[in-house]
Amino acid sequence: MEIPTILIVDDEPDLLKLVTARLEGSGFKVRAFTSGQEALHCAFEDAPGLVILDILMPGMDGYEVLQKLRSNKNTVDVPIIMLSAKFSQEEKTRALDSGADDYITKPYEPKEFISRINALLRRSDRQKDVKSVKNVLITGGAGFIGSHLTRALLAKNYNVFILDDFSTGREENIQDVKDNPNLHLIRGSITDEAILSKLVEQCDLIYHLAATVGVKNVVEKPLDTIIYDTLGTVLVLKYASGKGIKVVMTSTSEVYGKSVAIPFSESTDLIIGPPDINRWSYACSKLLDEFLTVSYYRERGLPAVVVRLFNVVGPGQMGRYGMVIPRFFKNALTGKPIVVYGDGEQVRCFTDVDDVVEILMELSGLEKANGEVINLGSDREISIKDLALKIKEITKSASPIVFEPYSNYYGHNFQDIRKRVPNLTKLKKILGRTPQTGLDVILEKVKDYFVSHPQELEDV
Ligand SMILES: NC(=O)c1ccc[n+]([C@@H]2O[C@H](COP(=O)([O-])OP(=O)(O)OC[C@H]3O[C@@H](n4cnc5c(N)ncnc54)[C@H](O)[C@@H]3O)[C@@H](O)[C@H]2O)c1
Repeated sequence: MEIPTILIVDDEPDLLKLVTARLEGSGFKVRAFTSGQEALHCAFEDAPGLVILDILMPGMDGYEVLQKLRSNKNTVDVPIIMLSAKFSQEEKTRALDSGADDYITKPYEPKEFISRINALLRRSDRQKDVKSVKNVLITGGAGFIGSHLTRALLAKNYNVFILDDFSTGREENIQDVKDNPNLHLIRGSITDEAILSKLVEQCDLIYHLAATVGVKNVVEKPLDTIIYDTLGTVLVLKYASGKGIKVVMTSTSEVYGKSVAIPFSESTDLIIGPPDINRWSYACSKLLDEFLTVSYYRERGLPAVVVRLFNVVGPGQMGRYGMVIPRFFKNALTGKPIVVYGDGEQVRCFTDVDDVVEILMELSGLEKANGEVINLGSDREISIKDLALKIKEITKSASPIVFEPYSNYYGHNFQDIRKRVPNLTKLKKILGRTPQTGLDVILEKVKDYFVSHPQELEDV
């Protein structure tokens, strides 16, 4: 990871020395100046990652330096913090209105000082990459997560190209945005090279979501799973690499397989079941996708990140392929028994789709995420039995909760996973935050969705 250089200008040499030592102690490279003129010369030559300016300086004061930095094409976007021994409300407003990004009063609290610098650097990092991106390709954009991502990108005025074969995707998912002139919907498979290569040529960023998904689907169609989930990814990476554009690849917590090393960390060993159990075709394919993505980064320099998603849920998700929350809602809202497979003690962590979309978008703009495999999920645990009880309560349903063997739904030879909880340390380190929406809020959103779209209950 590149170490950001901080340029600091303050006419008090002792203070300058102290701040420099603190910044260097926190891992930054520092260029320190007592005069604005010298600092400008240096900044124009080689733009720093961030600038800290004392307001009051003899000769050229902080505001003049600020204004010159903002008028030079090399430094126009550099984050700037103003320093002053006294910041009246008027002065704070003046600093921000003049183009500063933050202000700090001297003597400052060292921890807060470093946190604010880090926050500004992160923001600027994200803006940098996002700014240069206009045309975005979402493979699988008509699916559950893809459609939420589509909406979020359209809201930010991106041109969105969806490539989807509608195997599990639905027109209804993108109904509300289908007339948006910035949306381009292409029906086809990621394995169709003629279509894919043309689309990649038009785009600056790819979110690769297309895959055969859903436990039931995978169990019934392992061949589709393997072919689409691996060959498709090879092609996406091949064409992205040809153009050198970033790929955000969605993988899955399934790759942890039968591991019991809770919470699951990205660097732990994976324990996947044998080939005669169809379920594992999905985990193996996605794992191969991960290796492919990381290898494209290492050997071909492709900017790409792998994101392992943990049970993403929210409005618009369907239960046809074994997704538990929509299945439970459907039965609770239509008065049918809520069917729990197994003993219901299996534990999952559910993540809000909007949190996931927001974080995928941030990771798309973070250079330091490139080449990494990152867990993305919530680490708040709930058993499936308690989930059923919660949904029954939220919907005020009289439906009984019944327990059935997995084989009634998934056939014989099915293996389930008892517990799945992500370790989010890496995400926190790279991004500075993790998904925060709690399950109660998510379930309310899903309930509201089904209540306002009753026809969707038929289709679950
Ligand atoms: N929802 C989750 O909890 C979850 C968890 C882990 C990983 N993921 C990953 O996130 C991604 C999106 O999942 P989702 O939940 O939105 O599922 P989804 O089924 O709603 O979305 C997948 C989309 O890909 C499309 N698709 C499938 N094969 C294709 C092909 N060959 N060419 C073009 N389009 C194709 C489908 O029609 C669908 O629209 C997948 O890669 C999945 O593995 C999801």
